[in-house]
Amino acid sequence: MTKKTIYLDNGATTMLDPVVVKAMSPYFSNKYGNASSTHHLGQQARMAIDNARHIIAKSIKAKDQEITFTSGGTESNNFAIKGIAFANKNKGNHIITTKIEHDCVLNSCKWLEKQGFKVTYLDVDKEGFVNPKDLKKAITKNTILVSIIHGNNEIGTIQDLATLGKICKKHNVYFHTDACQSYTKTELNAKHADLITLNAHKIHGPKGVGALYIKKGTKITPLAHGGGHEFKQRSGTENVPGIVGFAKAVQLAMNSKHINHVKKLRDKLIKEILKIPDVKLNGPTNNKRLCNNANFSFKYIEGESIGAYLDAQGICSSTGSACSSHTLEPSHVLLAIGLKPEEAHGSLRLTLSRFTTQQEIDKTIEELSKTIKKLRKISPFTKILKRL
Ligand SMILES: Cc1ncc(COP(=O)(O)O)c(C=O)c1O
Repeated sequence: MTKKTIYLDNGATTMLDPVVVKAMSPYFSNKYGNASSTHHLGQQARMAIDNARHIIAKSIKAKDQEITFTSGGTESNNFAIKGIAFANKNKGNHIITTKIEHDCVLNSCKWLEKQGFKVTYLDVDKEGFVNPKDLKKAITKNTILVSIIHGNNEIGTIQDLATLGKICKKHNVYFHTDACQSYTKTELNAKHADLITLNAHKIHGPKGVGALYIKKGTKITPLAHGGGHEFKQRSGTENVPGIVGFAKAVQLAMNSKHINHVKKLRDKLIKEILKIPDVKLNGPTNNKRLCNNANFSFKYIEGESIGAYLDAQGICSSTGSACSSHTLEPSHVLLAIGLKPEEAHGSLRLTLSRFTTQQEIDKTIEELSKTIKKLRKISPFTKILKRL
């Protein structure tokens, strides 16, 4: 008999909400117009995009024209960072980011370094927070952009955008934040940043669609040149079903009371798992943590093995961000918060969603506890390290 899947990898992606599927469906079939066409089918698509843009703009208290649709978080982050760098290089060549960004931010910055830009990678404290004083100190007269992730995808740390944004504003430096993980899970207000990255597939929407909030008046160079779609910011025929699904997912998330439900289950999971000896929670212990995120380090064993054992029981988990968990490198985020490589290797991320149930969490607690015991029994490190 196949086991029922318990999906606790919502930080990687989420299940499409059936209501979202239903909303998208006509745009895959009879409502197939190109939004640039002037006939009625085209105008139907245009209206659907305009309506979606309005919903997303309203959700972060932005203006409709400040939302540019993209193919997702990776493109939005590339666009924000490279677009600001190219458009403002006459003003300076210095960018500030952190050591705990998503790979698409870090690799965009590394690529810009090869083009002659200078990048400062800020340290974070042991819970993953950026110290505003460090940001202030790092800004120079050549700084053109600061990019700091809002809710961290691995350890759930939520940065104080209001404080960080104020510092950037005072120094006349653009402030970008990657909010892929925090969007609809905690307050997000466009007044705190000049550019905000959003995507749909972390909130029960479709993959391959996202947006970049670009504050009116921001000087940014487009990456994709073509027919001038999306206010000339991002050319390419719009992904109408994706955009419609994105907006529906936002509406559902904003209207649901999921935050408390998810947080309650997550807190129970943390409380019970911390009863296992030699376990620690990575990331913040307070409310400045994404409501759906738990990340543990288990001594003497490897996260990869824990994940494989859990998978055999039908439980989906992760050892890091989805994009890097196929490598055996320790997570750069866990190293940045001060974990030793062996502690980082023994980590496991469990991320919940509004569809997660109490029974699923109870089953996970039971199976994870059994797995840890089993793996420690056969781990050579248990004996060696305990003897030291
Ligand atoms: C924080 C963060 N930023 C960016 C991305 C990339 O988004 P996408 O998968 O839509 O390209 C992800 C997804 O893994 C993420 O978690």
